[in-house]
Amino acid sequence: MDIETPRLRLRALREDDTGVLARIFSDPAVVRYSGGRSPTVEEVRDGIRKHISSHYSDHGFGLLAAELRETEEVVGRVGFLTTEIDESADAELHYHLAPGAWGNGLATEAVRAVLDWGFGDRHLSRVIAAIHPDNHASRRVAEKCGLTYWREVELPGAGTFQVYEVRPPAGR
Ligand SMILES: CC(C)(COP(=O)(O)OP(=O)(O)OC[C@H]1O[C@@H](n2cnc3c(N)ncnc32)[C@H](O)[C@@H]1OP(=O)(O)O)[C@@H](O)C(=O)NCCC(=O)NCCS
Repeated sequence: MDIETPRLRLRALREDDTGVLARIFSDPAVVRYSGGRSPTVEEVRDGIRKHISSHYSDHGFGLLAAELRETEEVVGRVGFLTTEIDESADAELHYHLAPGAWGNGLATEAVRAVLDWGFGDRHLSRVIAAIHPDNHASRRVAEKCGLTYWREVELPGAGTFQVYEVRPPAGR
């Protein structure tokens, strides 16, 4: 499941990513538009263990660690989860980077690459992303990666989100 971009290696999560991912997600800016609560270290570890034990094999995709190729530093987590927002979608896109990595086009580079992999290797037919209406950076990333506005949804306890969608490019 390794995906390489000019600056990033997107690879399967490992249990030893727990510390760095817990640190990234402990920053309020990172979770501001994803429910607002940072996961505990145990929750991050559990999520990684579930990915390794079943999620990757059950679904053929999952969240990936985003590692800078030059330094091997993990700067975020990008990838697909299954979705309850719309069961006709194959997967829901998620992308979170450490604030120190923002503003350099890395999210766009990562999301383009996972979509390419998802449509090409996994033959996904439709991917969605739920974006908080105030999350302008996320919306911009989605738009640059070809996602378009589909509709609003009310997520219990989280409020109104805008759902964006994308299908494989013609010919795939
Ligand atoms: C969303 C996120 C992944 C973007 O990462 P990034 O690497 O900075 O993204 P990129 O540099 O590829 O692109 C960001 C785009 O948003 C734009 N942008 C950033 N902040 C913005 C703002 N406040 N208003 C409008 N546009 C903004 C940038 O200018 C850029 O667009 P451009 O290339 O047209 O100039 C990052 O901010 C993040 O991790 N946020 C917290 C987690 C999150 O909200 N994830 C999304 C959940 S749906």
